[in-house]
Amino acid sequence: MAASYVFLLVASLVALASSPAMARDPGPLQDFCVADNTSDVYVNGFVCKDPKLVKAEDFFFSGLDQPRNTTNKVGSNVTLLNANRIPGLNTLGISMARVDYAPFGLNPPHIHPRATEIQTVLEGSLYVGFVTSNPDNRLITKVLRKGDVFVFPQGLIHFQFNYGINKAVALSSLSSQNPGVITIANSVFGSKPAISDDILAKALGVDKKIIDLIQAHF
Ligand SMILES: *[C@@H]1O[C@H](CO)[C@@H](O)[C@H](O)[C@H]1NC(C)=O
Ligand SMILES: *[C@@H]1O[C@H](CO)[C@@H](O)[C@H](O)[C@H]1NC(C)=O
Ligand SMILES: *[C@@H]1O[C@H](CO)[C@@H](O)[C@H](O)[C@H]1NC(C)=O
Repeated sequence: MAASYVFLLVASLVALASSPAMARDPGPLQDFCVADNTSDVYVNGFVCKDPKLVKAEDFFFSGLDQPRNTTNKVGSNVTLLNANRIPGLNTLGISMARVDYAPFGLNPPHIHPRATEIQTVLEGSLYVGFVTSNPDNRLITKVLRKGDVFVFPQGLIHFQFNYGINKAVALSSLSSQNPGVITIANSVFGSKPAISDDILAKALGVDKKIIDLIQAHF
């Protein structure tokens, strides 16, 4: 009895110790597993479609050279190619995005819960940054110009701002087939239903009226 308890304890400690490796997308167990988006079976990722039915189109996307419309509140537009857009990415642990920025456009502070991002500026220049976790919350920033590359570590709040009068374009690679996005302002102030203004007023140390004002924007 005691021995099996010790075994269980050791087994769970080993599982815990190896869990950082599981923080990334799991490795593939076959050449590919093209997503079958017609399946109603829920697994971690997507069910594979029959390999005999796989076509080149499953690994293909066209038109990433086309500028996107940046006429919106923040002045940026993200075109994300994840496993939903390119079914062949399923189980491969990678995705990419084109980001268009209007002059003074912002990709607002956000988190990718499942991916590190590496970004290349193709056009224009960007002021980019990320904030380290508690307790330091150190802001690390850099001005990027065409050809510059910057890394945003997994799970950290980051942003990109086009501080120029010309448009900017960047290409990002992300270390998950489904990086996920949590836009901080939208999540905190625009949740449905809203987080109580008592809670946010206390968390931010401001009057409830200020919280109501901000919540009204979302
Ligand atoms: C499934 O994927 C194909 C190819 O990407 C796409 O055209 C289709 O709209 C998707 N269907 C659903 C239900 O998501
Ligand atoms: C991004 O651009 C596409 C095509 O230009 C447009 O259809 C879409 O509405 C834009 N998204 C946002 C958030 O502005
Ligand atoms: C871009 O989006 C805005 C807002 O939705 C719209 O008014 C405008 O016509 C769009 N521009 C183009 C070129 O599609």
